[in-house]
Amino acid sequence: MALIEGHRAIDAPPGVEIWDIDPYDPDVQRSPSAFYAALRAKGPFVYLSRYGMLACGRYAETREVFSDHSRFVSSRGVGLQDFQLDSPWRPPSIVLEVDPPEHGKARRALMRALSPKAVAEMRDSFQIAADALLDEVIETPEIEAVSALAETFPTTVFPKAMGLLTVDRQVLIDYGSMVFNALGPDNETRRAAMAHAGDIVPRIAAQCERANLAPNGMAMTIYKAADAGDITEGEAGLLVRSLLSAGVDTTVTGIGNALWCLSQNPDQFDALRAEPSLATNAFEETLRYTSPVSAFCRTANADTEVAGVAIPEGAKILCVLGAANLDPGQWENADRFDITRKVAGHLALGAGIHSCVGQNLARAEGQAFLSALARKVARIEPTAEAVWRPNNAMHPLDRLPLRLIPA
Ligand code: HEM
Repeated sequence: MALIEGHRAIDAPPGVEIWDIDPYDPDVQRSPSAFYAALRAKGPFVYLSRYGMLACGRYAETREVFSDHSRFVSSRGVGLQDFQLDSPWRPPSIVLEVDPPEHGKARRALMRALSPKAVAEMRDSFQIAADALLDEVIETPEIEAVSALAETFPTTVFPKAMGLLTVDRQVLIDYGSMVFNALGPDNETRRAAMAHAGDIVPRIAAQCERANLAPNGMAMTIYKAADAGDITEGEAGLLVRSLLSAGVDTTVTGIGNALWCLSQNPDQFDALRAEPSLATNAFEETLRYTSPVSAFCRTANADTEVAGVAIPEGAKILCVLGAANLDPGQWENADRFDITRKVAGHLALGAGIHSCVGQNLARAEGQAFLSALARKVARIEPTAEAVWRPNNAMHPLDRLPLRLIPA
């Protein structure tokens, strides 16, 4: 059987438009809004002819496919590869890339480590770190905000919260880049990210070992689940790996994208300054408006149907969260960045049993950062065009040149 990018190509289902676009083209990835709009306009699903698979971007169908774990499984991979037919580059995640009942055990162990109570205890230290970082950075009027702020803040607070005893920020960022880019095809973006694998994978594996973790961090809470007999020691290591995989590039992108949104919409930054308690909603609206995780796949586990479209067993479906989060059928003035809107229901953190288990932590980071920004900065001025970085599953910035005027 011929595979395309590790999955079996299906034929276009009747009534579904055949589209020759490459969603993984770097130009599409840098500037995806036209792709998002066309995807929604073409119907509930399109057939991506070069990958022999489906894609959806309207809110209702994207939510249905992404959250219905019994028909659309994650155990066959959330990227282009079908793990039943092709081997993944690393042992699969025991939380993201599994289905019930296995999923529940791992998920429970993570939820304990990332509970609202556990995250509440971190809030003060996040705020102190965000305030200190902004105090330092506004000494220099012109910055490149991706490296100066978006990468620095999460890689300061997250490893500490995890309890990592040695921290190499770049290794954490590069590992996240590998994990997300590996979900796409064997393109230049994926190859560039994977080029560092030989060096980075063993270093990440070492960071996940019990001996390399502080006694009071989130990672050790996961090992305590192993001590209690809820999971094995090996599973604990893999769950720590899941947090290192998913907990850095996502928040780096979320914070960078928030800075971009606020720099492009000075009226919204003024509103945030006038009411810093809007920080939480401003971060949430950033997630809706820019979808840091832009698209993940599901695989149909049996013949089924959605919105009248027949979907055969084995079909890969690209669920374009970025398009669903901008669907005008779901959101009033969907294309407007509005930090006061009711943003509940967006898909940027997923939906259903796999919805982001780190969302409390991500929100706490975003809230601390934006609250410090609102109090310490009077104006954010772009000094050059922002540059977006191609990525096979995310929508991150590469460079964001800004001038921060102190309050
Ligand atoms: C703004 C930041 C973040 C965004 C946009 C984000 C986005 C997402 C999305 C869309 C999913 C669903 C994947 C799916 O259903 O296939 C997910 C799951 C997950 N996220 Fe996040 N995430 C963020 C931050 C974090 C953080 C900080 C952590 C760890 C501390 C984390 C850990 C995870 C894990 C382990 C899963 C898998 C959960 C499961 O399968 O049950 N994420 N995230």
